[in-house]
Amino acid sequence: MLVYAIGRDTSVWSSNAEEFYPERFSGTNIDVKGNDFQLLPFGSGRRKCPGMQLGMIVSQLVVAQMVHCFNLKLPNGMSPDELDMTDKFGATLPRANHLMAMATYSFAYLTK
Ligand code: HEM
Repeated sequence: MLVYAIGRDTSVWSSNAEEFYPERFSGTNIDVKGNDFQLLPFGSGRRKCPGMQLGMIVSQLVVAQMVHCFNLKLPNGMSPDELDMTDKFGATLPRANHLMAMATYSFAYLTK
C-alpha cells in the first residue's frame, strides 16, 4: 500500500504518475533492488523479497520464450496505441481488462 502510494505521488513524479510509462526510468540509474525508492517492485529493507533473483530470472525467461516461440498480434487490426493498460488495485497490480492477443507458432516444427 505504501509502495503503491509512493509510486503515484504526483508531487514527486510528474502529472502522469498514474500512467503506464516505464520509459520514465530509462536513462536513469534507478534499479529494482530496493535501494531506489522510486521503483520498489520487490520492497526494500530487511523484509524485502528474498526471491528477487529467482523472480527476475523466471520473468525474463518466460517473456524471452514467449517472444522467441510465438508471433503475437492484437485482434481486429487493433494498434498498440489502443491497448488498455489500466490497472486495478491488488497485491500483484492486475490489469483492469484482459489482454487479448493472437499467438501463432514461430516455428513450423511446433505445429506438427
Ligand atoms: C517477479 C517476482 C516477484 C515479485 C515482484 C515479488 C515481490 C515481493 C514484494 C513486493 C514483497 C514484499 C516486500 C516488503 O514487504 O517490503 C515480497 C516478499 C516476499 N517474497 Fe517476493 N516477489 C517475487 C518473487 C518471489 C519468489 C520467486 C519467491 C520465493 C521463491 C518470493 C518470496 C517472498 C517471500 C518469502 C517474501 C516475504 C519476505 C518477508 O516478509 O520477510 N518472492 N515479494
